[in-house]
Amino acid sequence: MLKSFWFWTLIILITIQFFSLDVPAKLPIKKGEELQASSEVISILKRSCYDCHSSEVKAPWYYKVAPISWFTQVHVKNARAVVNFSKWNSYSKTKQLKVLDKLPKSVVIRMPMPIYTYMHKEAILTNKEKKTLAKWARELKEKIK
Ligand code: HEC
Repeated sequence: MLKSFWFWTLIILITIQFFSLDVPAKLPIKKGEELQASSEVISILKRSCYDCHSSEVKAPWYYKVAPISWFTQVHVKNARAVVNFSKWNSYSKTKQLKVLDKLPKSVVIRMPMPIYTYMHKEAILTNKEKKTLAKWARELKEKIK
């Protein structure tokens, strides 16, 4: 019984590799479009958010393996649609305000996504870092308004 379970699991894993998706593409980064902020804020965002919310992707080998590749494709696509910090300055005021409005709450409840931090412990934010990001978002919101 057990033997055939692992056998079929292996067969399935091998089969789905034919339907694996590519690693999310690095997009070209235009000068002047990238988010500008203090080096503290940028370094937190880069460490914890840029794998999904930027045009850069650090892709370890297992990103190519299905079913992980399915998650990464969808996550990065959806995340970039919400906000791509590499294109920040090309966004309208309305879009920027919408992101900044949600950001303080997002970093407390759901960002970075737990499915991601499970593999990327270095992306977990400390309480101090969450506060730093929330403060930055609130201040920038006031400035843009
Ligand atoms: C593993 C990929 C991933 C990482 C890493 C990540 N996000 Fe997200 N983020 C997403 C996805 C996907 C969405 C789209 C909403 C959804 O369907 O969950 C999203 C949505 C958001 C939103 C919109 C509001 C919301 O909560 O849905 C904000 C703001 C946000 N992320 C900020 C951040 C910040 C700030 C970081 C870093 C501290 C971060 N994210 C890290 C994938 C990611």
